[in-house]
Amino acid sequence: MAARSVSLRLAAACRAATQTVRPHTATPIMRAAALSPSSSSRSSHALAVHRDTPDNHANIPFKFSPENEKLIAEILKRYPPQYKKAAVMPVLDLGQRQHGFSSLSVMNEVARILEMPPMRVYEVASFYTMYNRNPVGKFHLQVCTTTPCQLCNSDSIMKAIGDHLGIKPGHSTEDGIFTFSEVECLGACVNAPMVQINDDFYEDLTPESTVQLLDALKGYAQATKDLPINTTVITGDVPPEVKGIPKPGPLSGRATCENMPPSTPDPLISSHNSTDVSNFTLAAAAAGTILYENHSIFTTLFTYVVGGIFAGFGTAYHDILWAARSPAKRKAESKRWHNAISPEGHRFVQVREKALKSNWENRKSELDGILDNTLGLVRQSNSGSGDTRTGDGKPDSSFEGQDEKWGDWGDYKEEKRRLAEREQLRKEAGGHSGDVPKYILEYAPLIHLYSKEEYWPGDIDLHLRRTIPQLNFTDVHEDVTLDNLSLFNQYAPYLYLTSKDDPEAHPGWLSARFNIPDLKTGKCDAPGTLIWVDKGNGVVDAFWFYFYSYNLGNVVFNVRFGNHVGDWEHSMVRFVDGEPKYMFLSQHTGGDAYVWEALEKKGKRPVIYSAVGTHANYATAGKQEYIVPFGLLADNTDTGPMWDLTLNSRMYNYNLSNHLLLPSANNPEAPISWFYFDGHWGDKFYPFNDTRQYGLLGEAHYVSGPLGPRWKNLGRTGVCQRDDEECIIMTQLRYGRKRWEWEADPLDGGLDVPWWALGGLDWYL
Ligand code: FES
Repeated sequence: MAARSVSLRLAAACRAATQTVRPHTATPIMRAAALSPSSSSRSSHALAVHRDTPDNHANIPFKFSPENEKLIAEILKRYPPQYKKAAVMPVLDLGQRQHGFSSLSVMNEVARILEMPPMRVYEVASFYTMYNRNPVGKFHLQVCTTTPCQLCNSDSIMKAIGDHLGIKPGHSTEDGIFTFSEVECLGACVNAPMVQINDDFYEDLTPESTVQLLDALKGYAQATKDLPINTTVITGDVPPEVKGIPKPGPLSGRATCENMPPSTPDPLISSHNSTDVSNFTLAAAAAGTILYENHSIFTTLFTYVVGGIFAGFGTAYHDILWAARSPAKRKAESKRWHNAISPEGHRFVQVREKALKSNWENRKSELDGILDNTLGLVRQSNSGSGDTRTGDGKPDSSFEGQDEKWGDWGDYKEEKRRLAEREQLRKEAGGHSGDVPKYILEYAPLIHLYSKEEYWPGDIDLHLRRTIPQLNFTDVHEDVTLDNLSLFNQYAPYLYLTSKDDPEAHPGWLSARFNIPDLKTGKCDAPGTLIWVDKGNGVVDAFWFYFYSYNLGNVVFNVRFGNHVGDWEHSMVRFVDGEPKYMFLSQHTGGDAYVWEALEKKGKRPVIYSAVGTHANYATAGKQEYIVPFGLLADNTDTGPMWDLTLNSRMYNYNLSNHLLLPSANNPEAPISWFYFDGHWGDKFYPFNDTRQYGLLGEAHYVSGPLGPRWKNLGRTGVCQRDDEECIIMTQLRYGRKRWEWEADPLDGGLDVPWWALGGLDWYL
């Protein structure tokens, strides 16, 4: 006791001395916060001491606002009248929110209302770091540096903030926008490192994302000068002049605290980025890229040798002729390509997308003649505009002259008109299409995802939030939703929903582990899509669409090809008079078709399998060789988690005559605009000066994202997606296992009829 009173007397003496010598300054926020910051970096002496300042002394009047008085009355009802003081924390918090910090006057007023000694209120306010006893900036940055955060490099976050704002922990910036504090664990360790900014947590920080966040907040603060201080960072609508403030939560792309991708991946999905491939792969990729970049007769000879082995000499000969014929033209196109991949500032580069596309295709025809055009090898996604058939199976003439609309991207008049027209038609139709035919749900497929899949089903809504439409690598618009996506069609098909995150950094939304279907029920949190189309004469096609935010391409010769952001796969059940007859399973550029009886069933429902990484659909589990012999190119399926789309899907009817998509009665509010989007659902083919990209034998590590369901030939007459190719409908599952064999030699493959007799749907009908 004696020791305590001595120290109190000493403290009082020190206080008196300090008060007499210290002049008032013109930067109260900085000075006050520096003197008594609300952080763990404060010394115990600073924690216990109050010093009067011009904006914090007992003579400054403070009264609660009428609204807060009402709230206090509500709070007090929670406690017995004789224990009013139990309300000290929420009432103090109210005072801090109203005044901006817990000043002496606020604390005294709280003590008066709660009929408790002021010292008791001071004790509470000085114990809990969330009470700021001196003014803080508009944004109070409280960085956690406790062990889990520190292990995840919170030091780098502290440094980034200090360097960027030019202040140390415990200080505020001169403009009063930021106060910087170091605090103990805030309970978000799973997403370390993190910072609390006013009421919001920002997690999974990197120095780069932290600096971006600070800049965005500064812009926000300058644009909203009149808002009271210490308001929640994101309060309702962000002013139009402030863009780019991320939503609170993980900034890595994780939705919550789901696992990051495994550090020791399944061998089937390993070496899938540019940084973890083997030396052989890198050497091969480098050689391939050089070949790709240098158009010469040598390139063609190389292709000729490899192609000769795999595909015969005919096509290689064609390539030689082509290459020998127009070297100057190819050189010019190559130059144009390189010009096109360098956006200048915010202006679009003045290169026509059509020229760019044809340039790419010419390059393809030179180098891909063997592996791509002849064999269709690993061309899993369209590199240009893709399949140009719309829902009714006819070419869409609206793409004509598309490239002439250059630069006029602020005007969405025409697309707005179309959107309004569709909404009007939807209204006239009563808002929905009625119930989904019962038989469609009864015979809906069950799909086994691969047990060690790394890229799980994605929600197109989340996908839109993590991407931004780009035209020629230039942002077009930020606020795209499922309800307005088609507004941007005037740039389609050259528009690409481009990932805001680097796909090679494995952001959580791409792998979407949080969408692994429930192992008991099969319900997946990412909605699937059902679109049924009545073709007349009793024929109804039910298209089940599976969306994944990322497609991991397959490996050939230890080199991975065909990765892309965004992946649409589908299966289609064809009903005749309500009875299932055939089923189509999409795979890469084509797919397999079966008679209904051939398919594996669970109850009445067919069971299908999604391949690891590529998500191609198959009718059986196991290795699925395709196109190239000796198992060099194969998908793999197994009996991993089963996905039942009937439990969570957006369901629609599509009318071929007026092109109207109508939600079914069970989800009448389901958005429709996204369906009419004519652009790509993922990043554009990365140029070769991008370190993520490499090419070999005319194939690329990254290809462009796909077009959406409207482009999957919903109006097909045959069972297969492509009307321009022979559609072979298999009568037994075993034919689907080694398709390349019977495609090369159908009689050996065991088909019951000669290959030339297989006439697609006609043959069976
Ligand atoms: S250690 Fe930082 S939030 Fe827990």
